Amino acid sequence: MATESDRLEVSDGTDTAVLTASRNGWQVDLRVDDDDDVRRQRLLEAATQAVMIDGGGRLEYWVEDADASSNRVPVAAGFTPWRDLWCLERPLPAPDTDLQTRPYTTADLEAFLEVNNRAFDWHPEQGGMTPEEVAQRTDEPWFDTDGFRLLEDEASGRLTGFCWTKVHDDREPPVGEIYAIAVDPDFQGQGLGRPLVLAGLAWLAERGLRHAMLYVESDNMHANRIYEELGFRRAATNRAFQRIVR
Ligand SMILES: CC(C)(COP(=O)(O)OP(=O)(O)OC[C@H]1O[C@@H](n2cnc3c(N)ncnc32)[C@H](O)[C@@H]1OP(=O)(O)O)[C@@H](O)C(=O)NCCC(=O)NCCS
Repeated sequence: MATESDRLEVSDGTDTAVLTASRNGWQVDLRVDDDDDVRRQRLLEAATQAVMIDGGGRLEYWVEDADASSNRVPVAAGFTPWRDLWCLERPLPAPDTDLQTRPYTTADLEAFLEVNNRAFDWHPEQGGMTPEEVAQRTDEPWFDTDGFRLLEDEASGRLTGFCWTKVHDDREPPVGEIYAIAVDPDFQGQGLGRPLVLAGLAWLAERGLRHAMLYVESDNMHANRIYEELGFRRAATNRAFQRIVR
C-alpha cells in the first residue's frame, strides 16, 4: 500500500485501487485490466482495508452509465447505493426567454456564494462553497464570465439566481452544459427557474452549440420538473456507492 496524506494506493501488481481524499471522504477509482467482477470486488475490499488501516472514514465509489446489474459488485464488497446522478440532454436551440440576465464579475463573488450556499445547503459537492473553490473553477481554461449568467431582482438589485454554463469544446460535436443553476430560496417557487435555464441555453445556442446537457440528482423534484418540461431526456445514470469504516 502506497500512501500520502491525500492519496492511498492499493495494488496487487496488476490491478490498482486509487483513493483520493475529497471533502466527502475517499474517492475510489479502480484500475482493473478487464471487467472481472471478482477482481473489482477484491479491489474494493482492499481499498476498504486501506482506509481502516489509515484510521477509518468514508469511501465513495462511482459507476458511470449504471444499470440494474451495477449494484452487484459494490454491494458484495459492503458498499450501499447512495446517489443517482442523471445525465440529461436536449438539442439546441431551446425556446426564447425575455428574462434579463448579465455576466458574472469578480465583484459578484460574495453575493454568488450567499445564493449558492443557501440554495445548495443540502448538496454534497456544490454546497458550502468557499472563495478558494470558486477561484479554482474560474481559473479553469473553460471558464467564461459571459457564460455565467446572473439574475437580479429589479426592485432591490439583489442577486436572486444564476445559471452557470460550461462549453465542452473537446467533445465531438461540442456540448454546452448547464453546469450549476440556482434560485435563492427566498425567490424559489415563483417561476424564475424555468426562464433562467432558458437564458443559459440561449447563451449556449448563441455560441453555435447544438447540444445541451446537465447533471441532476434523480430525486431533485423541482429541478427535474423544469428539465422535463423543457424537453430534456435522460441519457445516462451515474451511481455513487458509499461505505463508512472505523
Ligand atoms: C431548481 C430551482 C433552480 C428551480 O427554481 P424555481 O425558481 O424555484 O423554479 P420554479 O418556480 O419554476 O418551480 C419549478 C417547480 O418546482 C416547484 N417548486 C419550486 N420551489 C418550490 C418550493 N419551495 N416549494 C414547493 N414547490 C416548489 C414549482 O411549483 C414548480 O413546479 P410546478 O411546475 O409543478 O408548479 C430551485 O429550486 C433551486 O435553486 N434549487 C436548489 C438548487 C438546485 O437544485 N439546482 C438544480 C441543480 S441540477
